[in-house]
Amino acid sequence: MIPLDSFERWLPLMPESAQLYLNETEIEAFRLLTENEIETQLKELLEKPIANFTIINDVYFRARWAELLKKLYLDDNLKLLEVATGDADMIPQVMARTHPDAHYFTANMNKALNKSLLNKTKDLPLEVEIIEDDAASVENHLGPEVVGIIAFQHAINDVIQAILCERVGVDTIYSDWMETLPKMIKILQQEITQSTLEEHAKGPFLGLISTLLRTLRKDGIIAMNHYMFQLDLDWGYPPELFETMVPMTRGWLQELKGCKEIYIDGFNTNWWIFLQKI
Ligand SMILES: C[S@@+](CC[C@H](N)C(=O)[O-])C[C@H]1O[C@@H](n2cnc3c(N)ncnc32)[C@H](O)[C@@H]1O
Repeated sequence: MIPLDSFERWLPLMPESAQLYLNETEIEAFRLLTENEIETQLKELLEKPIANFTIINDVYFRARWAELLKKLYLDDNLKLLEVATGDADMIPQVMARTHPDAHYFTANMNKALNKSLLNKTKDLPLEVEIIEDDAASVENHLGPEVVGIIAFQHAINDVIQAILCERVGVDTIYSDWMETLPKMIKILQQEITQSTLEEHAKGPFLGLISTLLRTLRKDGIIAMNHYMFQLDLDWGYPPELFETMVPMTRGWLQELKGCKEIYIDGFNTNWWIFLQKI
């Protein structure tokens, strides 16, 4: 697997990042780890599909997004829209610490995951607004040229899976996402075997990005990242598709007008895409 990031760079940054981005209870959990455990868990996180959910994952992902947000946006009045957050709270956790005067929106359709996200973020000193709608309709809620950053935190795959499910009448809004995942994987396997993924998903995906571009301020950035979960692979997620999700999406995005790809030093292009509105 192409590593997500540089183990050598991140290992020495872990203790300070834990102090900056974990709460007291979480820091206690971090302190219980030996140096050897930190090293092993970080190496596995960065160099293999993710199989374990540890405090090291929280430290690394929060610190990585914090680094990115600081590079992209120095003002306090950041308005950030996350697409398809599920109940993964790493970006609100970071913003509450790096940009406390900011406004966090998410366009997130699944009802149960929205409830869980609300619960995880309710005590954060950050304005959090959940838009329970398709991200393709977000302009109706936010209006034009409002947000500075749009984030797809491990969400390209989720958006594509939801597009394919809607096409064949599989519900992803009222259902349990994990219970539906085997069906999603089956659909993806068929799309790959029949070489129809691009035909079925590219149009709706680019349509969604086009509407998102309208809510973005001029020069605003869409930041997308991706990584692999071992569980999805064990359940039959087509491995090449999972590993090349970003290059595949980049190929599609090159057809869009109104934005250009930019590159940020140290962010691997197999796992990250940055688009700037022009
Ligand atoms: C598994 S969760 C995502 C978790 C998160 N991105 C992560 O992997 O860390 C999937 C979520 O994506 C949402 N989703 C997928 N396509 C969407 C769309 N077009 N608009 C809004 N939400 C969408 C689903 O409703 C669900 O809440």
